[in-house]
Amino acid sequence: MTILGIETSCDETAAAIITGDKDRITLRSSVLATALAMHAETGGIIPEQAARQQVRYMLPVIQDAIKQAGITLEELDAIAVTYGPGLIGSLLVGVETAKTLSYVLHKPLIPINHMLGHIYANWIIDSKVNQSVQNEKSSDTTPLSLPTFPLIALVVSGGHTDLLLMKSHSDIKLLGGTRDDAAGECFDKCARLLGYPYPGGPKISQLAEKGNPKAIAFPRPMLGNHDYQFSFSGLKTSFLHSTKQHFPVLRTGHPQDKIGWQQVVVEAASAKEKHLVYDLCASLQEAIIDVLVKKTMRAAKEHRVQSVVISGGVSANQLLRDRFTEMCKKEAVTFFSPAKQLSTDNAAMIASAAYFHFTPQKWQAVTADPELYFD
Ligand code: KG4
Ligand code: ZN
Repeated sequence: MTILGIETSCDETAAAIITGDKDRITLRSSVLATALAMHAETGGIIPEQAARQQVRYMLPVIQDAIKQAGITLEELDAIAVTYGPGLIGSLLVGVETAKTLSYVLHKPLIPINHMLGHIYANWIIDSKVNQSVQNEKSSDTTPLSLPTFPLIALVVSGGHTDLLLMKSHSDIKLLGGTRDDAAGECFDKCARLLGYPYPGGPKISQLAEKGNPKAIAFPRPMLGNHDYQFSFSGLKTSFLHSTKQHFPVLRTGHPQDKIGWQQVVVEAASAKEKHLVYDLCASLQEAIIDVLVKKTMRAAKEHRVQSVVISGGVSANQLLRDRFTEMCKKEAVTFFSPAKQLSTDNAAMIASAAYFHFTPQKWQAVTADPELYFD
């Protein structure tokens, strides 16, 4: 079965072609146009601009995905599209395009929850990009295989931090989620405080490499609670206080603002001050990872699962992957993480989720839902 996936929930315009056969997904093409540079310039995502970029890129991206896969639109068996959560203007572009294609080509239309899509990046192991999956996995000494049920899935993205118990593809239960900021949001907002544009996660983890993760004892929000809820807004506030305390004369600044912290602290500061920034980043990253790993592993033990599966943009974080690899080995649970280019937003994961959740809807019934969550 060959599926076209379309993903336009935020600032990325993506299309991909997958072919599914039994439990295996082959990635035939994955194309992505990003408006990241534009959003970095404006200091964040401006929904109206993101939607306009989606309109601009949507058709060329689909055409490219079809061309790279070496197929025609007529050869498709179905069309899958993200219908939420996300920015309404961005979502509408993908949803309306998918509906039109479904109507014109007489192909089944499968609406997919973006967060569920992230999880299914872990089933794409037989693909063009699996070169990197294979390499990553073999260096992990994890056998190249598929996740087995029951499993715990952690979805960590810019807008969500969700923990789910999956007993099968159709038996999925939400164990907990974030009460306020998501883990990715915490990375992004703290990076912004230092003057770095979206997405802040990769920058924080890069600066953290030179820092001491034990230098600043940031709180581990809700780690002591016996539920599976998360909260990261307090950690962000603590990061703000700590930064202000160490750099009292500085102020938050827009990346274009020449007196922003980034310019003062990282570029012009003394070696000692630079180290302080590295320590702040390393300690922040450590606190976020500590909470994510410990809560996930607690759920894995409680539900006696066979696999732990992580996904979403933050799952590209190498330290998070290393920590999970270590903990899962200890608990004799198999650990899965997607190829790094499939951790962040892409359309292959949407097509993969559609293959395992093949529930076509009439095009008239499919609408964008920016507030969509797990049932
Ligand atoms: O899943 P995603 O691409 O988009 C959403 O659905 O939100 O996730 C984006 C998030 C951003 O918050 C970004 O800072 C974070 O993923 N991220 C990272 C890393 N790469 C991306 N966070 C920490 N470390 C990384 N290496
Ligand atoms: Zn996402």
